Amino acid sequence: MADLSQTPRTPPLGPQAPRHVAVIMDGNGRWAKKRGLPRSIGHREGVEAVRRTVQAAIELSIPYLTIYSFSSENWSRPAEEIDELMGLMKRFIRRDLAELHQANVRILVIGDREGVDPELLSLVDETTDLTSTNTGLTLVIAFNYGARNEIARAARHLATEVAEGRLSLESIDVDAISQALDTSGVPDPDLLIRTSGEQRLSNFLLWQAAYTEFVFLDCLWPDFGRDQLEEAIAKYHVRDRRYGGLSRRSTA
Ligand code: IPE
Ligand code: IPE
Ligand code: MG
Repeated sequence: MADLSQTPRTPPLGPQAPRHVAVIMDGNGRWAKKRGLPRSIGHREGVEAVRRTVQAAIELSIPYLTIYSFSSENWSRPAEEIDELMGLMKRFIRRDLAELHQANVRILVIGDREGVDPELLSLVDETTDLTSTNTGLTLVIAFNYGARNEIARAARHLATEVAEGRLSLESIDVDAISQALDTSGVPDPDLLIRTSGEQRLSNFLLWQAAYTEFVFLDCLWPDFGRDQLEEAIAKYHVRDRRYGGLSRRSTA
């Protein structure tokens, strides 16, 4: 990654720019297969695409970027591939943390801590603590994340609060549920991008994506960078977000 602290600030994309972009980074395996390479190389190249994308988000003044890096269902992959993905997460934090901190990036990690290597958890805690007061890009890393698991954990938390008398049953509403999720305090994504041509959510941000605009790109994740991010944002700009109401563009 280039030295982020030296990155010239290009003007933001305008008042209608997405505040929160979420990305399902898909296609690392197919990228490698096309080249006759092992899947691990695809994942390594995928980390380079993460670096480019973070830098582009900073340059474009996007306030929130969420990346889906390991799903709760990815444990069903071969042990060797899981080890590779865990190793890459550790290396990404170790290698890039200082630079991201320098670039004023605040890092949040969402997902279930259960079942994650304690060494990785302490790295995650170190990262979130160190960057907690940064005011630039908020980078949300979804790691060991599954939306159904997140919602179930939130439901259990709220039920415990009620059972122990700290919360009334009547106060469980949409806001209370949003605040009990891992993404508490993070605005819902405006734009969700999935690479590799697949058109599904794969258990990503099910609650938060209620009114998100989806952009599906054929590009495989290791080929993603600023151009593709801008392409997705351009598609977002021509969408008409109605939230169940009437078009703001209609003249009738
Ligand atoms: C995305 O690439 C990375 C993760 C899911 C961790 P894939 O590994 O899913 O790549 P494909 O879909 O097999 O090409
Ligand atoms: C979604 O990709 C998960 C991540 C990008 C981390 P997958 O490749 O795991 O999704 P499916 O299996 O094709 O739905
Ligand atoms: Mg995939």
